[in-house]
Amino acid sequence: MTRPFCLTLSLLLTAFHTARADETGQRIEAILSKLTLEEKLGQLRLVDGHAGGGWKPQHMALAQAGVLGGTFNVRGTGPTSEMQRAALSTRHKIPLVFAFDVVHGYRTIFPVPLGEAASWDPDLAERCAAVAAKESRAANVSWTFAPVADIARDPRWGRIVEGSGEDPVLSSAFTAARVHGFQGKDISAPDRMMACLKHFAGSGEAEGGRDYNFADVSLRALRETHFPPFLAGLKAGAGSIMPSFSAIDGVPATSNPWLLQDVLRKEWGFEGIVVSDYDAIGQLVNHRVAPSWDEAGQIALRSGLDVEIWGSCMMQAQGLIDNADDLKLVDNAVRRVLRMKFSLGLFDKPYGDPAREKEAILHPDHLKLAREAAAKSCVLLKNNNQTLPIPPAAKKIAILGALANDKLSQMGSWTGDGHAEDSVTLVEAVRQRLGNNGTVIYTPAGSSSGFSFRKPSDGVDEAKDADYIIVVVGENGDMTGEATSRSSIDLPQQQLDLVQKVSALGKPYAVVLMTGRPLTVGWLAETCPAILLAWHGGTMAGPGIADVLFGDVNPAGKLPVTFPRSVGQIPLTYNSTPTSRPLVEGDKWTSKYTDIKNSPLWPFGHGLSYTSFQISPPLLDKRTIPHDGTVRFKVSVTNQGERDGDEVVQAYIQDDVAFVTRPIKELKAFKRVSVPAGKTVTVDFEIPSKDLGYWMPNGTYRLDPGTFTLMTGSSSAQVRSSSFSLQ
Ligand code: GLC
Repeated sequence: MTRPFCLTLSLLLTAFHTARADETGQRIEAILSKLTLEEKLGQLRLVDGHAGGGWKPQHMALAQAGVLGGTFNVRGTGPTSEMQRAALSTRHKIPLVFAFDVVHGYRTIFPVPLGEAASWDPDLAERCAAVAAKESRAANVSWTFAPVADIARDPRWGRIVEGSGEDPVLSSAFTAARVHGFQGKDISAPDRMMACLKHFAGSGEAEGGRDYNFADVSLRALRETHFPPFLAGLKAGAGSIMPSFSAIDGVPATSNPWLLQDVLRKEWGFEGIVVSDYDAIGQLVNHRVAPSWDEAGQIALRSGLDVEIWGSCMMQAQGLIDNADDLKLVDNAVRRVLRMKFSLGLFDKPYGDPAREKEAILHPDHLKLAREAAAKSCVLLKNNNQTLPIPPAAKKIAILGALANDKLSQMGSWTGDGHAEDSVTLVEAVRQRLGNNGTVIYTPAGSSSGFSFRKPSDGVDEAKDADYIIVVVGENGDMTGEATSRSSIDLPQQQLDLVQKVSALGKPYAVVLMTGRPLTVGWLAETCPAILLAWHGGTMAGPGIADVLFGDVNPAGKLPVTFPRSVGQIPLTYNSTPTSRPLVEGDKWTSKYTDIKNSPLWPFGHGLSYTSFQISPPLLDKRTIPHDGTVRFKVSVTNQGERDGDEVVQAYIQDDVAFVTRPIKELKAFKRVSVPAGKTVTVDFEIPSKDLGYWMPNGTYRLDPGTFTLMTGSSSAQVRSSSFSLQ
C-alpha cells in the first residue's frame, strides 16, 4: 500500500471515529436533556440480583419505572432479557447494564487470582480472562467487578486470594493482562466486557489483616506499592474503578476527593466510571464521616463517585441536590454511564443470545485452558529425593484428606456462576488417569469404614498397602476470600494429625496444599518429603494437579507472596527496607526476633522444578547508563536435568544510596522461559532507567544518579548480582 493511500486511510479512519464519537456525544446530550432528576439518579444505581442469577421483584419495578441503571448478579439471557424488556419499555428507553463479579471465571472457573499469578505467565491470565468474558457476555453480563489490583502483604487478610500478591511489578503485569483479556480491543464485541479495577486503594493494608479495617498507609507507600497495578490497569484501558471500603489516612476511599479526583481524574486522566463498593456509600455513616444516608450520597457524589451499587444513598440525596454544582456532577456522572452503555453496544444489542450462551458455557476448550492454568499455577515448594513425580510403577495410589474430593472448595472464593458439579476433583482425576491400570484408595474423610460402631476412618488404615500416598490439606472454600480474616493461619490440628499418621507409615507420600493464602506450615516443611502448592485451582483443579503429580507437567510456578514461618512475623515481604540495624547473626542489637528467624518459610519467587536450572549473573551491555536510557542485560539459563521445563527468571535491583530508605531488593522484570533438557537459552532484559526512581514524601518522583546492584535468579532469595551506574 503506497504511503499517500495509507495516510489517507488513516485520516479517514480518524475522521470516522471522531464523527462517531461526536454522534454518540450528541445522542447522550439528547437523552440527558429529557431525563428528570430522579431518572438521572436512577442511572447511577445498580441493584443486586439473587445469588442464583434471578431478579428481585422490587428491582423489576424500578426498571419498569425507568429509575434503574443496571444490576449485578442478575445473569443469563433469560433473566436479563426480562429486566431489559422492562427498561426498554420506559419513556427514555435506556438499556440496563448487567454486571457481575467475574473474578476468576464465569461458569468455567480458573485458579484463584493469587494462584494464577503463581504461574508468572500474564499471557495465561489474559487467555483465562478472555474466556471468562466470552462466557459472561454470552450470558448478557457486560461488566465485571474485576480484576482485583490490590497489593496484599498480610495473609491474615482473606482477600489476599483475590489479587496477584505482594509485588507491584508482578501485580501490574497480571492486572493489565486481565484487563486486556476482559476488554479486548472493543468492549461492544459479543465476547468481551468492561473491567473494573478494585479496590482503590490500599485495602490490603487493613490493620491487623482484618477486613474493612483502617489502612494506615503512607502516601509514599500508596504511590510506590499500591498505585502501580491500578495505573497499569488504567493504561490497559480499564473502563471502571471501585474505591475500597478502607479509610486512607483517615478519609474513606469512597469519599476521598484527593484519591478520586486529584489522583484519578486530574493526575491520571481517567475518564471512566467510578463505582462504589457494596453499600460503601451508606457505610460512610459507619465511618462517621456522614450523619445520614442522603448526606452520604451527596458527599460521595461530590467526592467523585459516579455509580452506587446495592445502596440508594445517591437516590435519597435527590432532595439535597438543588444547586447548580451538584446538578452538574449528576449530569457528568450520567454522561459517563450513558457513554459506557454506548461503548458496550447496549443501545444496539441490549439482549443476550441464548444460542451463543448455550455454545459458550463450559466449552471443552475452556475446560482445557482451565486444566492448563491449574497445572501452571502449581508451585513445587519441596521435593526431597525426587519424591515427585509419582513413579509409573505406583499402581495403588491412596488419596487422603477431605479436600481431595471437595468439588466446591477447589473453586475457591468468588466462584462466579460456577457449579460445583462441574468440578473434576483430584480423586476423580487420578481414577480417570489410572483407569484399569491401577487402583485409587480413597475413603471419604469421616466416613464410617463398614460397621456403624467403628470410629469414622481417616483413610490411613486403608492406605497401608498403597504404593504411594497423596495427602491433601489446606483451606475449605469458605475459609478464603472476603470477610475471612484469620488470627491464625495454621493448618487445623486434624489435618496435621492426618499427615503425622501418614508419615509414620514410612511409605512414599506427597502433600498437596489447597489454599487461598500463605499458611504457616513449618511442621509440614520439616516433616514431609514433597509439598505441592495447588491453591484453589478451579473447575479443573483435579486434572491439573494430577498432570503435575504424575509428571506430565513439569511444575514452574513461583510464589507471588511470601510464606511466613509465623503469623507473628507479618507483614513479611521480600522487598523490606534495610532498617537502621540489619540483622547480624549473633549480634543482639540488630533487627530480629528472639524466638524465630527473620527469614520466611518460603520467599517470594520461590518454586522448584522436576529438573534443575543454572541461571547466570546478569551480563550488562553497559556498566554506565544514562538517566534517560535503558538498562540492557542478558541472562543465560541452563537446564541441567533430563526433563524439559520452564524457569521464571527474575530480575531485581537495589538502589545502593537514595534519599529515602529503599527496599533491599525490588523486582523490576521477569520472564518465564522454556528450556529443553540439557540446553541453554539466553534471555534478554530491558529496564528503562526511569523505572529505577522512587517516590518522595512530597509526592514527586525522583531518579538519582548513582550505583545500583542488579540481581537475577530463580527466586528473590536465589540471586546472582552485578552492578551498574546511572548517570
Ligand atoms: C463486595 C466486594 C466487592 C464486590 C462487591 C459486589 O463487598 O468488596 O469486591 O465487587 O461487593 O459484589
